[in-house]
Amino acid sequence: MFWKATEATAIAILATFAAAKPFVASPSDGSIISRPDVEPFPHNSGRLRPVSSPRTKTCSVTALGGGEDDASQILDAFHNCNSGGTIVLDGDYTIATALDLTFLDSVDVALSGSITFKADINYWVANSFKYDFQSSTAFWKIGGKDVNIYGGGVGVIDGNGQPWWDGFASNSSLLRPISLVLDGLQGGSVTGIRMINPPNWFNLIANSSDILISDMVLTAKSSNSNPVKNSDGWDTYRSDHVVIQNSVIDNTDDCVSFKPNSTNIVVQGLNCHGSHGISVGSLGQYVEQYDIVENVYIYNNTMSDASDAARIKVWPGVHSDFEPILSGGGGSGYVKNITYEKYESTNNDWAIEVNQCYGQSNKTLCELYPSNMTISDIYFIDIWGTTSSKYDPKVGTLVCSSPEQCYNFYAKNVSVTSPKGKSQWVCSNFDTSGLEGFDCISG
Ligand SMILES: *[C@@H]1O[C@H](CO)[C@@H](O)[C@H](O)[C@H]1NC(C)=O
Ligand SMILES: *[C@@H]1O[C@H](CO)[C@@H](O)[C@H](O)[C@H]1NC(C)=O
Ligand SMILES: *[C@@H]1O[C@H](CO)[C@@H](O)[C@H](O)[C@H]1NC(C)=O
Ligand SMILES: *[C@@H]1O[C@H](CO)[C@@H](O)[C@H](O)[C@H]1NC(C)=O
Ligand SMILES: *[C@@H]1O[C@H](CO)[C@@H](O)[C@H](O)[C@H]1NC(C)=O
Ligand SMILES: *[C@@H]1O[C@H](CO)[C@@H](O)[C@H](O)[C@H]1NC(C)=O
Ligand SMILES: *[C@@H]1O[C@H](CO)[C@@H](O)[C@H](O)[C@H]1NC(C)=O
Ligand SMILES: *[C@@H]1O[C@H](CO)[C@@H](O)[C@H](O)[C@H]1NC(C)=O
Repeated sequence: MFWKATEATAIAILATFAAAKPFVASPSDGSIISRPDVEPFPHNSGRLRPVSSPRTKTCSVTALGGGEDDASQILDAFHNCNSGGTIVLDGDYTIATALDLTFLDSVDVALSGSITFKADINYWVANSFKYDFQSSTAFWKIGGKDVNIYGGGVGVIDGNGQPWWDGFASNSSLLRPISLVLDGLQGGSVTGIRMINPPNWFNLIANSSDILISDMVLTAKSSNSNPVKNSDGWDTYRSDHVVIQNSVIDNTDDCVSFKPNSTNIVVQGLNCHGSHGISVGSLGQYVEQYDIVENVYIYNNTMSDASDAARIKVWPGVHSDFEPILSGGGGSGYVKNITYEKYESTNNDWAIEVNQCYGQSNKTLCELYPSNMTISDIYFIDIWGTTSSKYDPKVGTLVCSSPEQCYNFYAKNVSVTSPKGKSQWVCSNFDTSGLEGFDCISG
């Protein structure tokens, strides 16, 4: 298979690289952590990651403490250590000013301390970075090339989400920043960091390529009755060759979500809890846009207590008013060559959900105006476990708007049971002959 040759080469190159690794932590200071040797494993996204050039200087930042804003001295460190240095962040920092770090070239960030974003809502609403894409905003954005951010299992990024979730409870248009945005980063990694309580999504990977995410722990938990809002683990957007692996996620929205123009993505070794699934989409929301999600391999993951384990959602060909602030449909494009393999479902409402009528409850209307987005070459292999009682005896639903727009669906060795011990699948508007062993009912 395609992967095998690349992996062998990757391991050989990695071995050479590890032996020659120039970066060493300062021996006088035990708190400086060194860049870990993490590589995509067992699968890679189809090409080797670029090798990071040596780092030859360090810039340490002493935290001001007492909640004072460390943003300007952190920015200075990035300027001083750009082009071949390591920024050492081993204290407890507060960031209260938006940071544009999209000018980076060959830098490492050794984060053994913590970064907390001050919850100054008025400041951030006015000064966060604003994106058109889903009205998202950012505290800081990191871009350029060859950037490795590592936390050695102890570094923390705290989004201080609670005041934002509380604010959202009375103002649903409150613009809540994403905790970490990679925007235009070519070559880089984020590893070994604990992220807690993002006001919005945990991570957005946009306009980026050759990115490795590994050994992360993401936890979002509200301390009162206002729920955590959004908290997607990672969203990929306009990005190519991204590997997200070996991490633990406890949240309330998508564990990983592939947004428009996500290609050559591998997601492996994730343990997701409480989410909305590892999801493709939603796509096709905007009439004037062409959305592509292609070559995605989702391997060896577990999902529990979520709405879905595997999920693909695209809008139909007709404008649909779904929720007060969520409407769309009619956008074109395609979802192609997506594999979910080795996936354990525990107590999720649906083990698999494919929906080509997203946001449209009138099925007749959806069939009259089939989606302008095709879904094809979809593989479900070795998926097992249980679903919740929510749709019992059904365990999954695959609803297309037209067989012309949904084809080449395959399932093999899928064995998921509902609490009643049943496994019924809703299948409509596509050729189900590739679904081995499915007990399909319509509608
Ligand atoms: C809600 O938050 C937005 C900014 O995100 C602000 O423009 C708007 O005025 C706020 N609305 C209320 C009622 O506070
Ligand atoms: C991605 O790149 C586009 C084009 O340069 C830019 O408009 C956008 O702000 C960037 N970031 C995101 C998150 O869309
Ligand atoms: C996605 O890629 C297609 C094809 O290159 C392009 O037409 C479209 O504008 C891209 N969409 C976004 C959101 O960048
Ligand atoms: C699956 O992922 C887990 C981490 O969640 C890892 O320990 C295990 O080795 C992986 N198994 C395979 C077959 O890749
Ligand atoms: C489909 O995606 C897989 C990764 O999941 C990749 O190995 C394979 O080359 C892709 N197939 C085609 C025809 O591009
Ligand atoms: C669904 O749409 C069809 C076609 O427009 C229409 O005839 C029907 O009344 C609609 N059903 C409901 C429940 O709105
Ligand atoms: C989108 O789909 C609708 C209904 O199926 C069709 O009338 C329209 O021409 C399509 N638009 C594009 C851009 O493909
Ligand atoms: C089917 O999936 C199970 C996991 O539920 C795995 O243990 C088994 O090896 C798979 N069988 C085949 C024939 O691949």
